Amino acid sequence: MALADDAYRVRRAAAEDQRAMHMLLRRTWTDTYASFLGRSLVIGVLEGAVSLAGDWQEELGPCVGEWIAERGSRLIGLAALCARADGDGELVQLYVLPSHQRLGVGTALWDECIAESRRQGWSGTRLWVFERGPAVRFYRRRGAVFVRRTTLRLGSHEEAILGMRFAL
Ligand SMILES: CC(C)(COP(=O)(O)OP(=O)(O)OC[C@H]1O[C@@H](n2cnc3c(N)ncnc32)[C@H](O)[C@@H]1OP(=O)(O)O)[C@@H](O)C(=O)NCCC(=O)NCCS
Repeated sequence: MALADDAYRVRRAAAEDQRAMHMLLRRTWTDTYASFLGRSLVIGVLEGAVSLAGDWQEELGPCVGEWIAERGSRLIGLAALCARADGDGELVQLYVLPSHQRLGVGTALWDECIAESRRQGWSGTRLWVFERGPAVRFYRRRGAVFVRRTTLRLGSHEEAILGMRFAL
């Protein structure tokens, strides 16, 4: 069941939110990705001991905003959006705290990013997602379609990632 609209709010992130956003990112990464990447690899990436490589990252323009979802004073989700050189935008982060997933918070953040994408006049909103991760289903349900598949190298580990695009 979804959280009631008045149980949380979505707003632009401010400088003082950055620390809590970082914590949420760590928590969600560990909880979600350890199941298929392994805990030590995830920790290695988070601590900067394992580097990421691959041909997935095209040149991004300026980031146009970061949004957070908060319940009372607690941060429960975040999203970030950047411009691209090809007239599209890119959703570079979308994370919901594990305890608050599947309650509609991710969709609320997604809707905010799509509304901003339209304001920016982009033709589409792109994103990258682990092929084995649960979020592929979320993006498909939101109407994003497969664009290309490539490999992300995390240290010596290779993991398939999917590029997806939502037409605006
Ligand atoms: C993916 C994510 C952002 C979605 O946010 P959310 O608040 O959980 O999603 P919502 O409640 O708005 O939407 C739920 C719908 O998304 C899909 N979905 C979300 N999480 C899912 C999961 N673990 N398994 C299967 N489907 C899932 C389902 O279609 C679900 O609808 P249902 O519950 O009726 O089946 C969030 O689950 C998350 O942060 N996951 C871990 C991190 C991650 O993979 N982020 C994406 C980085 S590219």
